[in-house]
Amino acid sequence: MTAANAPSLSPRANRFEPARLRREFPIFANNPGLVFLDSGASAQKPRSVIDGVAEFYRREYANVHRGVYRLSERATERYEEARETVQAFLNAADAREIVFVRNATEAINLVAGSWGAATLRPGDEVLISELEHHSNIVPWQILRDRIGIRLVVAPIDAEGGLDLAAFEGLFSERTRLVALTHVANATGAMVPVERVVRLAHRHGAKVLIDGSQAAPRLPVDVRALDCDFYAMTGHKLYGPTGIGVLYGRYELLETMPPWQGGGDMVLHVSFEKTLYQDPPHRFEAGTPNIAGAVGLALALDFIEELGREAIREHEEALTAYGADQLSRIPDLCLFGAGERRLGILSFDLDGVHPHDVASVLDQHHVAVRAGHHCAQPLMERLGVAGTTRASLGVYNDERDIDALAAAIEAAREIFLR
Ligand code: ALA
Repeated sequence: MTAANAPSLSPRANRFEPARLRREFPIFANNPGLVFLDSGASAQKPRSVIDGVAEFYRREYANVHRGVYRLSERATERYEEARETVQAFLNAADAREIVFVRNATEAINLVAGSWGAATLRPGDEVLISELEHHSNIVPWQILRDRIGIRLVVAPIDAEGGLDLAAFEGLFSERTRLVALTHVANATGAMVPVERVVRLAHRHGAKVLIDGSQAAPRLPVDVRALDCDFYAMTGHKLYGPTGIGVLYGRYELLETMPPWQGGGDMVLHVSFEKTLYQDPPHRFEAGTPNIAGAVGLALALDFIEELGREAIREHEEALTAYGADQLSRIPDLCLFGAGERRLGILSFDLDGVHPHDVASVLDQHHVAVRAGHHCAQPLMERLGVAGTTRASLGVYNDERDIDALAAAIEAAREIFLR
């Protein structure tokens, strides 16, 4: 990281004074009064990311891995340095285990389309859960329709978390992959992924973790976790849209065939035969999102500067405060997994349509997401058409929760009095 691209955060003393931290996010100065509680859909971007990407375009931009001129070599360095930043962020053993993709959805589709299509046989089982986002359901259904695998779904328990006993009972001799979320996007329910990985490996299954909501909120160490694949997306990590990451254990990536063909993923092409690059480039066909990778690295620098344990503590404290405040509101049912909820407060207001609730919240400058959150099977399981969902970021504080609670009270006045 060059000095010019260093996060413009002031000293550590500023950590988790969200009111001061908000000054690092230009969106707040440009939208006075905004109470932004939709970081689970997409987080806002700090100045260091916005300016750093612009500077990269201004000073260092060219295509990567192709030019022999200095500018292209410099751009290639920035792109590959970004990979090393992600490696460090996830504590992966090797930068070659980091594949740049568009988002977590594409990361999961890569595993399904490459590892899954090459490895799985008719009757093999992929074990998911009722907590999953559509991105961790549909790619497996596509594979089921293509090659006849079975999709096995672990239920949630009465509190809304993964039912571990039931989950364990669903392993069979044909379980090849466990694909689970780390933190459920629709409810914030936390999955004990360490135990999941141990159980899966004991049964000889590989493990893919969807870390879209967890990576921005928790320290993630893929080696300690011992997972085989980990997916995350840049735009929820305070980085740009259109850039995400698939972590894959190198010995697995090495065995996987390409899933998309094109430039930059080949060693040599003739009409008779093509030789492919080693991972990760084998999986990065075409000109990649170069500035996106640079922006993602700047976002991860920003997160590291704040401190990931400090972020976790902040998210835990604010989630607990929010759950406490919301549970005092009559007619409100808060979903999650008991206390095992992180960064997300998802609720039903006595059957009032979530879009109506969210519209009233918007009139009070409170931005939330409402609907099924791309988790329709979970909504069905919870017996609701959708929920209203507040999701936290590093710039939120208790005043935002208070504003949310007051706006919900206003919605109650309108719809339930
Ligand atoms: N998957 C994102 C969400 O949960 C968009 O809102």
